Amino acid sequence: MSKTYHKPVLLQEAIDFLAIHDNGLYVDATLGGGGHTQAILDANPTNRVISFDQDKEAIEHTLNLQKRYAGRLTIVHENFSNLWTQLSLLRIKKIDGILFDLGISSHQIDFAKRGFSFMVEGDLDMRMNSNQYTTAYEVINTFSEQRLNEIFWNFGEERESRKIAQAIVREREKRPIKTTLQLSEIIDFATYSHQKMKAKARIFQSLRIFINSELDVLKTALKDAVRVLNPNGRMVVISYHSLEDRIVKRFFREEEKKCSCPESFFVCLCSGQSTIKVITKKPVIPTMEEMSQNPRARSAKMRVAEKKGVNHE
Ligand SMILES: C[S@@+](CC[C@H](N)C(=O)[O-])C[C@H]1O[C@@H](n2cnc3c(N)ncnc32)[C@H](O)[C@@H]1O
Repeated sequence: MSKTYHKPVLLQEAIDFLAIHDNGLYVDATLGGGGHTQAILDANPTNRVISFDQDKEAIEHTLNLQKRYAGRLTIVHENFSNLWTQLSLLRIKKIDGILFDLGISSHQIDFAKRGFSFMVEGDLDMRMNSNQYTTAYEVINTFSEQRLNEIFWNFGEERESRKIAQAIVREREKRPIKTTLQLSEIIDFATYSHQKMKAKARIFQSLRIFINSELDVLKTALKDAVRVLNPNGRMVVISYHSLEDRIVKRFFREEEKKCSCPESFFVCLCSGQSTIKVITKKPVIPTMEEMSQNPRARSAKMRVAEKKGVNHE
């Protein structure tokens, strides 16, 4: 396993918060370069880990881990939105902890051909799972101006979304927009000078989120994670942008509260039952030292919740 594939973020913090115990069964929903998976396995020699990734390059890269931890590690090439089904297929009903380290790995960003970076020339692809149908090329070259505007606004919170969508439609009438640098250049021309880098980052992020349905799959997986956790089992979620973090924060808050009665009711009439206790009232962020050693850790936020004592199955 090469060290450059991905440097795990908040590694020790994630392991500590998972509260790993003897003979536990843990899920790493986002295997990537295998850094967190390996640390969970090393934390206790009696535990087992099921690790998911939808990217076949991550699966291929970590095959040696399966040999090294034979009998303790199962790697599943699947989207974590299928967590419930995949665990059922493995005849697993309950787990003792789950980690989500969201987004993309350094390898995915650095490997220019995948098209995730606006700084290097690559194909407009951006699929995490290469079996998936829609690519960034298709979105950029065939979606209406209105739809592009919505994607840039909803998933990138880009204030100049309309101008950028207009510029894309104008340019693609002359010739197809095929590469990341072609798209970068169009964003450059369409935006104010001090906003160019941020606009490019936001537009690329919005396309990635849309193409991989990142927000929807996260919502599904969080629900399944609560369902499948044993009482006292922990759920650790590391996110890298505000849209993801907001989903996690709201989900935790609602699951902790669970009551859906209007605020004006004095007593709960919906009999909603709280399923989790939030462990981190504020998100945990990397230390200054980690941020200086790994710039990609800068935007990380970790939130942790614990399943309540009663099983709600
Ligand atoms: C930030 S990296 C994880 C890095 C990993 N924790 C490590 O230590 O190397 C995120 C990984 O999750 C994968 N991923 C993202 N969304 C996914 C999803 N919905 N289902 C399965 N894998 C996903 C990506 O392909 C990527 O490899």
